[in-house]
Amino acid sequence: MCGIVGYTGHKNAYPIIIGGLERLEYRGYDSAGIALLNGDLNVYKKKGKVDDLKKSLTHAKLDGNTGIGHTRWATHGEPNDINAHPHYSNNKDLVIVHNGIIENYNAIKQDLINKGYQFESQTDTEVLVSFIEDIQKNTQASLEESVRFALQKVIGAYAIVVMSKNSPQTLIAARKGSPLVIGVGKDEGEYFIASDATPIIEYTNEVIYLDDLEIAVIRDGNLTIKNLDSTIKTPYIHTLEMSLEAIEKGGYPYFMLKEIFEQPKSVTNSLRGRVNADEGTLTLGGLSEYMNRLLTADRIIILGCGTSWHAGLVAEYLFEEYARIPVEVEYASEFRYRNPIIKENDVIIAISQSGETADTLAAIELAKSKGAKIFGVCNVVGASIPRMTDAGVYIHAGPEIGVASTKAFTGQLSVLTMMALMIAHKKGIIAESEFREILTELELIPQKIQKALEVSDKIEKIASKFKDATNFLYLGRGNNFPVALEGALKLKEISYIHAEGYPAAEMKHGPIALIDKEMPVVFIAPQDGIYEKIVSNIQEVKARAGKVIAIVTEGEKNIKEMADYTIEIPATHQMLTPLLSVIPLQLLSYYIAIMRGCDVDKPRNLAKSVTVE
Ligand code: M6R
Repeated sequence: MCGIVGYTGHKNAYPIIIGGLERLEYRGYDSAGIALLNGDLNVYKKKGKVDDLKKSLTHAKLDGNTGIGHTRWATHGEPNDINAHPHYSNNKDLVIVHNGIIENYNAIKQDLINKGYQFESQTDTEVLVSFIEDIQKNTQASLEESVRFALQKVIGAYAIVVMSKNSPQTLIAARKGSPLVIGVGKDEGEYFIASDATPIIEYTNEVIYLDDLEIAVIRDGNLTIKNLDSTIKTPYIHTLEMSLEAIEKGGYPYFMLKEIFEQPKSVTNSLRGRVNADEGTLTLGGLSEYMNRLLTADRIIILGCGTSWHAGLVAEYLFEEYARIPVEVEYASEFRYRNPIIKENDVIIAISQSGETADTLAAIELAKSKGAKIFGVCNVVGASIPRMTDAGVYIHAGPEIGVASTKAFTGQLSVLTMMALMIAHKKGIIAESEFREILTELELIPQKIQKALEVSDKIEKIASKFKDATNFLYLGRGNNFPVALEGALKLKEISYIHAEGYPAAEMKHGPIALIDKEMPVVFIAPQDGIYEKIVSNIQEVKARAGKVIAIVTEGEKNIKEMADYTIEIPATHQMLTPLLSVIPLQLLSYYIAIMRGCDVDKPRNLAKSVTVE
């Protein structure tokens, strides 16, 4: 939610900042803006995408070696040029970019208005920068101290970068609840700041993750990191392994399509070094220290949002069936505002692609405060969630840039499946033969995903038949019920078609009333233990003239005779079918959205990481 970029060094800041904003655009695309310091402090901003900003700058003076930029997902104030960041302070000596929400901005604004301050925008951010200006004026404190004093007074979440007309070659950055990464440039005294590492990786792989309540001061080529109470911290420099190629489209028209087709590779990476079917071993190094805690858990509570929550729902089936541990799956956004009962022997698994989702972070904090042990399943290395959990497993899917999550879902499923299997095996409650059979099948999953992708042309044709539908139902049973939810979410978020996912048997308790000849119903119907049941559900829809698109196991004959369209996926172990059945659903939503003229990488109103609640 909102992307921030900053640069100070000896290069021209503009191309670095605008390029960085393009990389961060998946975080928000309501407006974009930059500020450059070159004696003057010039701000350029525009409603719309980074490209609209670029086009508006053809005659602008764009020199300066220090600058900041922002791409916005609107919270306070509609998306327009005025509400776009950066924001000047009242006297125009300071500028700020901000990701987050200042909850007490109204009270601060009122005080400032009483002192004669004026505001152009409706944002909380403009209030913060004028508040810093006011502190500086009243206390004669340095810019750094004024930022520090202001942040001690604000309530809410922020990642900010501040620049002053009177402090050349200076950037002040701080965070609480929203991410910030500092890149240590290869040139002497050169630093980059960004919401994540993607704008930085082109220039350096050495980064420092700013922690909550830390302020970074970069002045004349020197970096100091302090706590909000002014104690100096020694930064730890991480070396990133991310490649530039991983964050580019690589010939695909959209990141989403690239990421769908990357899944044979990304799932291989999730399994790499962990599964060895020949030797019958399964290792998740990240969990070893707390393995006993997992093995003796009385209950697992899984937390997540959106697609990550769906992965948690699949895991509920797996943990209960194989590890025999009761599971509750909770929306992090609900859990955090309840008074959940957490007992000594409960463990929490927090699932998040970005590792930055505000609700998931807050839910983890709440569970921690009640003494729970927290395990993370995340994709982005070094993000806030993996840094605040006790232990965890990375899914290693590589950067996911399309707003609609695809390869992260299959990475999450791979890791959660391994966790369930490992617990079952260590507890000795799965037969060795079944354990080895599933390991063998797991190793085959990447090539089976590849096979599922090979029918993309057929899926594109089916999409063309349904591109004008106004509603869709997705039905599945068992561990494919959450896949039905995921298929419906994919369609909704990128094509804006209303879609609902249900357990197929629930249909008779209400949704069946929706069925008529206009209603496409997607069934996830692999040949598993409840295949016969779903066949009956398909018949019930056909009896009411619904249009059936069924995801079936290769070679299946029965459903083919009933359904209007079938899409085959390779056969696999029942435990692993969600890893395959979701692939055609991702492609179906992608093609329908493209045919409707939607920008699938930047769906309206959405942003990739939801860093505000
Ligand atoms: O980064 P996270 O996994 O924590 O994100 C959770 C959701 O915001 C995310 O899965 C969202 O629902 C996606 N847009 C779904 O495609």
